[in-house]
Amino acid sequence: MIEVKNLFFKYNKSHEYAVDGISFDINEGEIFGFLGPNGAGKSTTQKILTGILPVQDGEIYLRKERIEKFNNDYFNAIGVSFEQPNIYGKLTGKENLDFFASMYDYPVQSSSNLLKMVDLDNAANKKAGEYSKGMQQRLVFARSLINRPKILFLDESVSGLDPSNAVLIKEIIKELRKQNTTIFLTTHNMTVADELCDRVAFINSGKIVLIDSPRNLKLRYGRKLVKIEYENDGCLNKEILSLVDDKDKQRIVEITKTKLIETIHSQEATLEDIFIKVTGRELG
Ligand SMILES: Nc1ncnc2c1ncn2[C@@H]1O[C@H](COP(=O)(O)OP(=O)(O)OP(=O)(O)O)[C@@H](O)[C@H]1O
Ligand SMILES: [Mg+2]
Repeated sequence: MIEVKNLFFKYNKSHEYAVDGISFDINEGEIFGFLGPNGAGKSTTQKILTGILPVQDGEIYLRKERIEKFNNDYFNAIGVSFEQPNIYGKLTGKENLDFFASMYDYPVQSSSNLLKMVDLDNAANKKAGEYSKGMQQRLVFARSLINRPKILFLDESVSGLDPSNAVLIKEIIKELRKQNTTIFLTTHNMTVADELCDRVAFINSGKIVLIDSPRNLKLRYGRKLVKIEYENDGCLNKEILSLVDDKDKQRIVEITKTKLIETIHSQEATLEDIFIKVTGRELG
């Protein structure tokens, strides 16, 4: 559905690439997770794919056709939920949705249905500026669905919600997948990614380090990992090491010989463990 080839992006005055030559493709109807720690380049990538930031270098294809310039057809086909809620605080929730709906020149979803869907019907007539953070986030999510998008970009839409609202939004996302919506889901929350995504890309310092399904990743790393916590200069250190990799096996011996071990567990690798193993970095 969407293919990205060698995408680079550098902010003005910055010496480093925020997006440093990434390539991936997203199949129609799949939920593609984009995972990485703070500052990895996730939101920058989403902003390029949604036309908010320019394509400085690289290629983007939609259904095999190169996009030279984002046009109205593209904007009509996509829905975008931003990490920073950009809503009109002086307008009510309902007025916000009605305003955005008025920008489309074809029939769109009714604001009352959308508000009900995200459990904001009771707050429909309250000023959005007086919404809590989680309520604003749900409003932004609802707004991204106004035009029944074929492709949905969700930047941290589930993070920061309380458990019952997180379940609500995750259920809507699953339902959208059933309707064949293609979803680009950006998050630093591995549990969310594991639950929702068909495939995930790990992004670190602007580069994609691997792409695979959560299931394959767990099969590949399986139970063959140990997590060792040990004391080092008064601090607690954590390392995740493979029981099959020779270098890691040596490291386990080295730690047991030289450090004071607090805990040692063999475990089924979570996506978070695999991320640390592959990048050497925690998700934060
Ligand atoms: N407007 C900006 N101007 C300059 N640099 C920026 C700007 N926005 C982001 N950056 C830089 O680009 C890099 C990638 O940022 P980005 O917002 O894409 O990260 P992210 O993966 O979405 O992180 P987070 O999990 O914190 O949302 C970071 O080094 C960041 O400091
Ligand atoms: Mg971000």
